[in-house]
Amino acid sequence: MKRNKLAVVGVGHVGSYVLADAMKTDLFSEIVVIDKNKDVALGEALDQAHATALTYMTNIHVYDGSYEDVKDADIIIIAAGPSIIPTDKNEKPDRALLAEVNAEVIREVMEGITAYTKDAIIILITNPLDTMVYVAENEFDYPKGRIFGTGTMLDSARLRHAVASNYNIDPKSVTGYMMGEHGMTAFPVFSRLNVQGLGEKELDKHFQGKEPLNREVFGQKVVDAAYRVITSKGWTNAAIAQAAVTLAKSVILDERSIYPVCTTLNGQYGYNRDVALSMPCIIGKNGVEQQLEIELDEKEMTLLHKSAKYIQETMKIAGT
Ligand code: LAC
Repeated sequence: MKRNKLAVVGVGHVGSYVLADAMKTDLFSEIVVIDKNKDVALGEALDQAHATALTYMTNIHVYDGSYEDVKDADIIIIAAGPSIIPTDKNEKPDRALLAEVNAEVIREVMEGITAYTKDAIIILITNPLDTMVYVAENEFDYPKGRIFGTGTMLDSARLRHAVASNYNIDPKSVTGYMMGEHGMTAFPVFSRLNVQGLGEKELDKHFQGKEPLNREVFGQKVVDAAYRVITSKGWTNAAIAQAAVTLAKSVILDERSIYPVCTTLNGQYGYNRDVALSMPCIIGKNGVEQQLEIELDEKEMTLLHKSAKYIQETMKIAGT
């Protein structure tokens, strides 16, 4: 009988939430926890193992392990490396500041993984996400589509939450997404935003909005959202972990859900293997089954090129 196996690499603030969320999904019968701090890996695995005796929990075999344990993993979620951006409280913490240190972390992790498998679907979270995806996908000859990053899936959730809060409706009823970098240059595809088919211009006819729906204002709300969490509690982990596990579900169940995730572009929007950024993709058993080159309006194309340029600057810091 097929047993779905997950490996979580890096169980700090983010990875420990990924582990906790994954334990509650019934998607996996086996979860291996890998961290360079062996004590932390053991502690996180044991803590979750104890919970399997409790109500609502599945009896999952969860344990601490090493890279050798990824050889039969179906999904590997990588959250390794520092997630707390080194800036003082006043300035907006730019994820690019983690590029140099985390590029080395990702190279080390990918060395470990590819020594045992090039078959698992790898979902990357480590920041600066787009640059890390580019490093992992292009420096280790990993099969195309079988590595991708959470990208602007979380930014898109924040956009949908911001629009829903404005109109006092369920965020799940808002269709909308951010593209480009998971970071300061992410931008909303306002030309496609809708609530059950009601376009941007019709919303105020049906809902009492707190403020007018302005693409620049709401785009900035999304970009600032992470900083509000970081400056409040020091880091983010709950929403990003849920995004990663949602992606894992679409792979394991071959749902073919469409999410804006980060992959290396293969000619889309004029970029051919020279940048990784987020665009809507079909996510199924083979990982990224298809990248969807959605037609953007002029403003959105300008913002996409600005975002790609920023990512390519960050890629230089990472030594790609
Ligand atoms: C955030 C981190 C995951 O945006 O970059 O919450």
